Amino acid sequence: MATFVPATDRRVRSPHLPFGDRRETPYYGMDILSVLQFRREDLEYIFGVAKEMRSMVERVGTFDLLKGKILANLFYEPSTRTSSSFLAAMERMGGSVIPINEVTYSSVAKGESLPDTIRTLQAYADVIVLRHPEVGSAQLAAQYASKPIINAGDGVGEHPTQALLDLFTIEEELGRVDGLTVTMLGDLKYGRTVHSLARLLASFEVRINYVSPEILPMPEEVVGELEHRGIPQARAASLEAVLPETDVLYVTRVQKERFQDLEQYEQVKGAYVITPETLRRAKDEMIVMHPFPRVGEISTEVDADPRAAYFRQMEYGLYVRMALLAMVLGKA
Ligand code: CP
Repeated sequence: MATFVPATDRRVRSPHLPFGDRRETPYYGMDILSVLQFRREDLEYIFGVAKEMRSMVERVGTFDLLKGKILANLFYEPSTRTSSSFLAAMERMGGSVIPINEVTYSSVAKGESLPDTIRTLQAYADVIVLRHPEVGSAQLAAQYASKPIINAGDGVGEHPTQALLDLFTIEEELGRVDGLTVTMLGDLKYGRTVHSLARLLASFEVRINYVSPEILPMPEEVVGELEHRGIPQARAASLEAVLPETDVLYVTRVQKERFQDLEQYEQVKGAYVITPETLRRAKDEMIVMHPFPRVGEISTEVDADPRAAYFRQMEYGLYVRMALLAMVLGKA
């Protein structure tokens, strides 16, 4: 594995843990809370480990890298991919999982606070993956934890491990990130995956287009950050206007659960639907991505198109999450 010089000033880590030998295990004990922790060289390192993980899974299926280690998978919001891929990642590497996928069956239902729940789980587990509806919840958890916290989505804030797997998907599918035009489509206001991905893409020479219903734009905070980092961005009125130049079409679901006014949701929920007809105007080598779940934004007829990368994207997620777990547990 390549020697890696950590960009410690940009990172967040639990202050109570020994950091280990940084040259050998640069991420040991670290929290993963935001994509802003990662510089370009960090991404190269993570993706290098992810490729090794894929090769191991293909060759041997499971192996004992994390034998004896325990993950607490704590989800206050529904999840299929994030939850099950972290679970699969741990089991592929010989570790075990405490699954708390439905907090109504835990003491949270009796009113237990997030800090108390975290302090409890860290007594049993070596690492905690947390999904929570409130922005900043992962940072809060990290203040109370002496074990690494991995943010699996904090409300409309960030979803850093999704952005890492998204970027890995782009690199694996298209062979590069520099020079690409990425078009983000759909609910850019509430979609935490696009907030994280846009920030991560800012480490590369990319152009980003935003196409969304008027009431669901990319937040000014994110646009401002990218502007400051010199990333060309454009808000397009229609997908048609930017589709021919697009290399990556990143589609998102309108996040019904974030709307106060369901009438507003009804007005915008079907604003964009990708069909085989849409893709006729796209580049042959473009890829279509989606964090899933989808609820009608991409017609199932598109699934057979080789440009539909979203099911492959899910598998890349397994390898990236294996890499992250191994790294924060000091095994990569
Ligand atoms: N992409 C994603 O976060 O999916 P889940 O909500 O199923 O975890």
